[in-house]
Amino acid sequence: MKLAILKERRAGETRVAATPETVKKLKGLGLEIVVESGAGAAARFADADYSGAGAAIATDFAGTLADADIVLKVRGPDQAETAAMKKGAVLACLLAPYTENDAIAKLATQGVSAFAMEFIPRISRAQAMDVLSSQANLAGYKSVIDAAAAFGRAFPMMMTAAGTIAPARTFIMGVGVAGLQAIATARRLGAIVSATDVRPATKEQVESLGATFVAVIDDEFKQAETAAGYAKPMSAEYQAKQAALVAEHIRKQDIVITTALIPGRKAPVLVTEEMVKTMKPGSVIVDLAAEQGGNCPLTKADEVIEAHGVTIMGHTNLPARLAVDSSSLYARNLFNFVSLIVDKKTGALALNWDDEIVKGAGLTRDGEIVHPALKG
Ligand code: NAI
Repeated sequence: MKLAILKERRAGETRVAATPETVKKLKGLGLEIVVESGAGAAARFADADYSGAGAAIATDFAGTLADADIVLKVRGPDQAETAAMKKGAVLACLLAPYTENDAIAKLATQGVSAFAMEFIPRISRAQAMDVLSSQANLAGYKSVIDAAAAFGRAFPMMMTAAGTIAPARTFIMGVGVAGLQAIATARRLGAIVSATDVRPATKEQVESLGATFVAVIDDEFKQAETAAGYAKPMSAEYQAKQAALVAEHIRKQDIVITTALIPGRKAPVLVTEEMVKTMKPGSVIVDLAAEQGGNCPLTKADEVIEAHGVTIMGHTNLPARLAVDSSSLYARNLFNFVSLIVDKKTGALALNWDDEIVKGAGLTRDGEIVHPALKG
């Protein structure tokens, strides 16, 4: 069986779906590996590293995909790539299932079995395949590093002969995987850190990392979590109460990092223009929700702007700014998924559609869109 690794073509996508390390492991499953020339270049993996690990190198995407049974990518394929995939091939990548309807329909028509890594269920057996966690963790770290670089002051308190420098006040909005890592990173840099979330479970997590929890704690807050552990949309009343509390808090902050997301929906607005106006000149906002419309309405996707004296960073793909690490972790996530769908004795494809993980991530099968979240 042949497994193909394509070069990413989207602007700004520096990651790659396999590393020399995972190529060796994939070969260990009995697969023949073909890597498109230059696939790892932006993540510092050379063609020679891949061939050293046992892969063949193809010069273009068509040659890479020819006859491939499994295709691994970071982002969804473009039309030409989809058209070059053989019927019955398995594709695993980040497919943005809630927004890329046309691309997913094309994959179905092509007869590809497409798996969205975003939909891997968050059960313990699938933790090693959880790309949302592996990538969000790095995004959370990088958001603080970006903020520190753009901030014209230091993060830690410094007591010097010339006087004392006050520590930076850092507020993290949304305490999922990215937010937790942002808290930890800001603490390591010596900031005074506070955080907010609508899920009650986060209060203890925030406090255990040495940060202060800021939220309106009422009955609605106590029930604001789905069975899957995600946030629920909050009522207008709750949002108004929370906004008042946050407005008072934000005024005193130097750095605000927003990561608040609700799967499949536009990101909630948490930092209004009025709030930005109250912040001190030179403050920094990093909006990790920029791709889903932003937690601040002033955010411009993929731009760094200044508004009312505040720098607002809207990078939509922070993991791509740490391509070596994000690729290494993403590639291991994919390897673990491939191990699940390949028979280790025969090296043949063994897709078990009754498996919760296969069913959870599978979007298309036998020419149809099969995932319940995308049907009707
Ligand atoms: P996410 O990326 O979907 O959202 C980020 C954060 O924003 C969440 O904590 C969410 O509660 C928060 N948020 C949404 N609306 C908000 C608002 N209006 N104000 C403030 N905060 C708001 O979250 P992520 O990082 O994907 O984590 C989601 C859940 O999945 C968490 O419960 C996490 O612990 C859980 N998880 C479970 C794993 C497992 O294997 N069992 C692995 C990783 C995460």
